[in-house]
Amino acid sequence: MGQKKLIKFAAIKEYENVLEYPQDMPGKWNAFFKELAKGTKPIVLEELPNSPSAQNATTHPLVLELACGRGEYAVGLGRMFPNQHFVGLDLKGNRIWKGASIANRDGLKNVAFIRTQIDQVTQYFAKEEVSEIWITFPDPQLRLSKAKKRLTHPKYLRLYQQFLKKDDASNTTGLVHLKTDSPNLYLFTKTVIELFGLTLITATDDLYSTAFMQSDKWDDRCSIKTYYEGLNIASSNRIHYIQFKLDKELPLELDEKLKEMIAEFEVTETHDSLARNGKQAME
Ligand SMILES: C[S@@+](CC[C@H](N)C(=O)[O-])C[C@H]1O[C@@H](n2cnc3c(N)ncnc32)[C@H](O)[C@@H]1O
Repeated sequence: MGQKKLIKFAAIKEYENVLEYPQDMPGKWNAFFKELAKGTKPIVLEELPNSPSAQNATTHPLVLELACGRGEYAVGLGRMFPNQHFVGLDLKGNRIWKGASIANRDGLKNVAFIRTQIDQVTQYFAKEEVSEIWITFPDPQLRLSKAKKRLTHPKYLRLYQQFLKKDDASNTTGLVHLKTDSPNLYLFTKTVIELFGLTLITATDDLYSTAFMQSDKWDDRCSIKTYYEGLNIASSNRIHYIQFKLDKELPLELDEKLKEMIAEFEVTETHDSLARNGKQAME
């Protein structure tokens, strides 16, 4: 491992706003952020009181950025909404270091990071503890054989359902946001939403078009740009955005149907986009 990476790995070990594979966190996020705001050092996770998650989600909504990389959304939303709590989750410590360092530098006491595997995400949050989830520019996992690794595959949505707040009349909870430059991942996610009967709030294949930005569907939070957003890896030159509710059961039996449906429309596009880019997909 390079020297720079080692320095960043060592730094995040000292940061109170980065938790690496933390134990015993479900139900404690509100208490954790209270200690972070007080400047307690070190924050002893085992000593944090457990509090009713659903109630906290209303007073200080907890928003999760999955596969956050440098955490532009956790940090950017943290600035926009001082009364909400934001957690970025990623496996790569050197990327998390960036967002965590900015949050520390700018005194954002409502922003923290977990370094862990997304597959283990249910270990860190209690039932209904999280109000919203942002997924920004995840690996599109273009190959059909890798479809189960897409972060909007029902396999993952079932994990999110274990801690995402139930839908309420305010339309501001129980939401999942996906930003991607991959037309394939966009179409895939729309197919999942339709097949499982989830409530689609917004879907656009051209987020920054004047028509969409001037419409009442525009959400100012979408103006935050991430590192991967700037790379235009899919060469689509368009940012796609979907906002939906995880408000239905996700029967396992439908996964097979999903597999059949995507096999029909994905093969050509995957091959075409590989040829167009003249490179391997980013997986
Ligand atoms: C393409 S990058 C996007 C990063 C960021 N959201 C952005 O838009 O710049 C995908 C991120 O997902 C993370 N990632 C991929 N698989 C993961 C996993 N199983 N668990 C945690 N993070 C993962 C990677 O470390 C990487 O930072």
